[in-house]
Amino acid sequence: MIDPKGRVVMVSGANRGIGAAVAKCLYDKGYIVSLGARDVLKVEALTVGWDPDRVLLSAYDARDVSMAKNWVAQTVDRFGRLDGIVNNAARYSDFTIEYGDLSDFDDVLAVNIKGPLLLLRSGMPHLRKTGQGRVVNVASMSGKRVVGKHVAYAMSKFALMALTAQTRSDGWDDGLRATALCPGFVATDMAEPLTDRSLETMTQPEELAEIAALAIALPNTASVPEFRIQSFDEPMI
Ligand SMILES: NC(=O)c1ccc[n+]([C@@H]2O[C@H](COP(=O)([O-])OP(=O)(O)OC[C@H]3O[C@@H](n4cnc5c(N)ncnc54)[C@H](OP(=O)(O)O)[C@@H]3O)[C@@H](O)[C@H]2O)c1
Repeated sequence: MIDPKGRVVMVSGANRGIGAAVAKCLYDKGYIVSLGARDVLKVEALTVGWDPDRVLLSAYDARDVSMAKNWVAQTVDRFGRLDGIVNNAARYSDFTIEYGDLSDFDDVLAVNIKGPLLLLRSGMPHLRKTGQGRVVNVASMSGKRVVGKHVAYAMSKFALMALTAQTRSDGWDDGLRATALCPGFVATDMAEPLTDRSLETMTQPEELAEIAALAIALPNTASVPEFRIQSFDEPMI
């Protein structure tokens, strides 16, 4: 496994849910974390008592092209390197083929796909330099199969799977490895209104965070392209 010491990882949407759990998990393992959130004050609350030499907080709205660029630049200026990006920030939408505003469709794609793409565009040159760069894209089982009608969300997650595969392929020779996480329901604000299942029966954000950390720590010679994470039995397709 790669030693976390001195490695710098960016996490988007780090203020709550899975992003907050990933940020804490990586910090606890010894990584330097660069945390992006729309409201930086909310991440500040998460990082109270953390070593300031191992944390950077940055305002990041996935819709804003310049924020992705600035966040990467700030991270590299401050720590001199970039070893990993966890593309976690995303939004759900109940937009279906037949119902919903097209502006909502555009927004889901902007946040869930264009956001990660822009972070990679700015970040990949730095990830390549380390020879062991890592990208973890928080996709979903909604990027693997179609259940329900939420087509905008599903399309965004299928596209994120493509972005993950392309990142892996483009960066492979420079030691860059990209992994998609494909959970079913995870106990966060996003899942709660979508199902009758209780939060305790779902995958916990901290459990998913350990898998993200594993993907980052695995050596170049043992990279996993995707993890499907299930908290209940679902047919494999
Ligand atoms: N929960 C599940 O069941 C589940 C299952 C499969 C995959 N996922 C995926 O897991 C990831 C994290 O979701 P979660 O469950 O932790 O959901 P969550 O609790 O709703 O958190 C979503 C995170 O994304 C951020 N975000 C939303 N829009 C943003 C934007 N325009 N710019 C920057 N950040 C933005 C939110 O920031 P604000 O606080 O500012 O809104 C928040 O930090 C997402 O990619 C989601 O699709 C979740």
